[in-house]
Amino acid sequence: MTIEQVPDPATVRAVFNRATRAPSLHNSQPWHWYWDGSAAELRVDSTRLLPATDTFNREGILGCGVVLHHSEVAWAAAGWDIRTSRFPEPTARTHVASVQPVSPHALREPEQLMGAAIDRRYSDRMPMNPPPEWVTTPTVLEFLGHRSHTSVTFLDDTGVGELQRISELTMRLRRYDPQYGSELNWWSTGLDQDGAGVPASARPSADDRGRVPLDREFPAGTAESPDPDVDDAARIAVLSTDDDAAPTLLDCGYALSAVLLECTMQGLSTCTVSHVVELPSPRAMLAELVGRRYPQVLVRIGTACSPPPPRTPRRAIDSVLEVRVGRRQG
Ligand SMILES: Cc1cc2nc3c(=O)[nH]c(=O)nc-3n(C[C@H](O)[C@H](O)[C@H](O)COP(=O)(O)O)c2cc1C
Repeated sequence: MTIEQVPDPATVRAVFNRATRAPSLHNSQPWHWYWDGSAAELRVDSTRLLPATDTFNREGILGCGVVLHHSEVAWAAAGWDIRTSRFPEPTARTHVASVQPVSPHALREPEQLMGAAIDRRYSDRMPMNPPPEWVTTPTVLEFLGHRSHTSVTFLDDTGVGELQRISELTMRLRRYDPQYGSELNWWSTGLDQDGAGVPASARPSADDRGRVPLDREFPAGTAESPDPDVDDAARIAVLSTDDDAAPTLLDCGYALSAVLLECTMQGLSTCTVSHVVELPSPRAMLAELVGRRYPQVLVRIGTACSPPPPRTPRRAIDSVLEVRVGRRQG
């Protein structure tokens, strides 16, 4: 008979605390964890979706893929091997994964470095300098995408010019969409300190807004660039898939997380961008740029020119992690 090993409650809290540093659309954190004493269920929190912005909840599932990958990194950095199953209940699509720590292992340096990258990563909405060395990084990021059935495509200068036109078109269309506007305002300025949303300190000031042509048009914030002469020279990665099925989106979110953390470990700055894939016609134009695949999300990658803003808050761990000891998972 083998004796089941389970992590102690302090480790469980520390792991999920770290995992929930995962990025999500407007910092909505559309996930909920249930811990039963030996395994965790990851469920979509359907009270935290953004129907006007993310009509088909693609980004909600992507966000769950990101937090799933973050949790695996956090478990590994805490010295635990885990077993994950995705969509374990075929008829319950909100139950996106189950994660079970199975055995402890000695701490290993690569896992420690990746865990530390979770703590350092942030969304940099300011102009960036180009990455200093761009020889092997694209291959590594393509490999990370490929492991999760996601293509990572880098746009050349022509592609970036076309993308800027797509971004402008998206913003013009969105000006006629009051529901989109009120969601954006709510998640930027309307929240009452519950640890969600995009705070003013993470949003460019009125003077700096528009300096990154590809940035989503957030309400002006307080972040100021120290150098008003820097033009944005970030590289653009587009993550695309074969379809829009939920398991594919979960894979893509997982790949997004791997790309962001790898860049962070390399000392690069990143910002996830998605407004250009939220409306059908701009998305179709972007699909043409990436071989008629299904574009899901983009990442700006470069060297930071501005100091990091204060850490964007997260919801309290007790709001996202529910402990239900005594109830075994099916
Ligand atoms: C699926 C997804 C879509 C996102 N879309 C955008 C976007 O269009 N523009 C943007 O500035 N940030 C975007 N973000 C970044 C979030 O706003 C950010 O992760 C969140 O505010 C938390 O801040 P942090 O990344 O600094 O921790 C996106 C993140 C995810 C995971």
